[in-house]
Amino acid sequence: MSVSSGERTTPRRRPSRLGKLPGRQDWSTWPNYQAAATGFRGYWYPVCYSSQLTGKPKAITLVGERIVLIRDRGTAYALKDRCPHRGVPLSEGNQQFPGTISCPYHGWTFDLESGELRAAITDGPESPICGKVVQPTYEVAERLGMVWVFVGDGEDAPPIDEQLPEELVGNPAVVGSRIQPREGNWRFACENGYDEGHAKYLHRTSLWRMFKAMPVWNETRIVRRGRWIYRVQDAQHWDADFPGLGRWSNQAWYKLKPPKKVANIGNVGSHREVNPVIAAQEFPGFASVTMPGVLRIVYPTFIHYEFYVPIDSDNHLYVGVMANFEEGLNTVPFYFKYLGFVRWLFHGQFSAQDKWMVELTDAPPERLYRPDDSLLRWRKLVEELTEERAARLREQGIEPTPALTKNGARS
Ligand code: FES
Ligand SMILES: [Fe+2]
Repeated sequence: MSVSSGERTTPRRRPSRLGKLPGRQDWSTWPNYQAAATGFRGYWYPVCYSSQLTGKPKAITLVGERIVLIRDRGTAYALKDRCPHRGVPLSEGNQQFPGTISCPYHGWTFDLESGELRAAITDGPESPICGKVVQPTYEVAERLGMVWVFVGDGEDAPPIDEQLPEELVGNPAVVGSRIQPREGNWRFACENGYDEGHAKYLHRTSLWRMFKAMPVWNETRIVRRGRWIYRVQDAQHWDADFPGLGRWSNQAWYKLKPPKKVANIGNVGSHREVNPVIAAQEFPGFASVTMPGVLRIVYPTFIHYEFYVPIDSDNHLYVGVMANFEEGLNTVPFYFKYLGFVRWLFHGQFSAQDKWMVELTDAPPERLYRPDDSLLRWRKLVEELTEERAARLREQGIEPTPALTKNGARS
């Protein structure tokens, strides 16, 4: 086929606007991140509601490890979910004696606190194997109505309160939460949560946003404060003319008018009073993220958190938490608001759009654009915090376990 002069067969090359972005399309710029398909060790992770944990053993997979949870006389315990005898899951067994769990196969019975083999029932009370086998255990805590498990490399777990978002420690709050197993790698879920570009477009059709206009695009800076990075909005553009295409906007007659000021709390430019606990934090931006995959979205009267808990390389646990910093009777409106519609619209349908995209994401390779500075800064933060942790462990003489790149495969 001949091409008449003047026609182009390849798109015109424009100067790249991605000057600051790494040229490569793989993830080798972030080796720790790249290797962490099944998540990072050295952190507490929420795994289920406290009310779901009883004396019946419960099997979970966390950071690629199979773990059995059980509650005994009010306290939650976690052990490796593989009997050292013949490899049967302890979670298939049950309790024969208080303070222990027994394997269903031959009745090896482990102490919940220490993991020591206390009895091998089918070898009698004098069994010589007792005292020679210790089952690995995990530290467990309960916060925000959930059970949290620490997966580390043998170091002492840091106090969980040091890892929770600071404002959740020491401030009374009522929380509403949702825990949902989801398909997709935990990194896609976290990147989706912090992704600067998507919400305005993907969520523009959600019921949660039905009556609120969303900007077309923002001018955003990412700033680090402590262990968090924040998205700071410098400008919001509520409509835009795309050369040769026309005008595009999210606004509609039935939506609230866009705020005049650039909004850094709640992204809504609300003139409502900001809750004093939230105001006291002086958050630089409304969206922030930290390790090991915790997103914080600040609204004037409540904060929404998402914890992306790695199960294995293809699955994660979505844990959405909404916190309202009120006490006593002041909490009543939150309950109505949360149970009445936030739970359905925000943790439900809005979040289902994210779930849909996380299932479909297939990267690397990837070709990033300007708003993806949010993703790049997150990956950089991960590298920095992971290197700091590795240095701390080595000071204690502990070599960090290589991450699992795929379920069960060490990097
Ligand atoms: S496999 Fe667990 S006791 Fe034999
Ligand atoms: Fe989203």
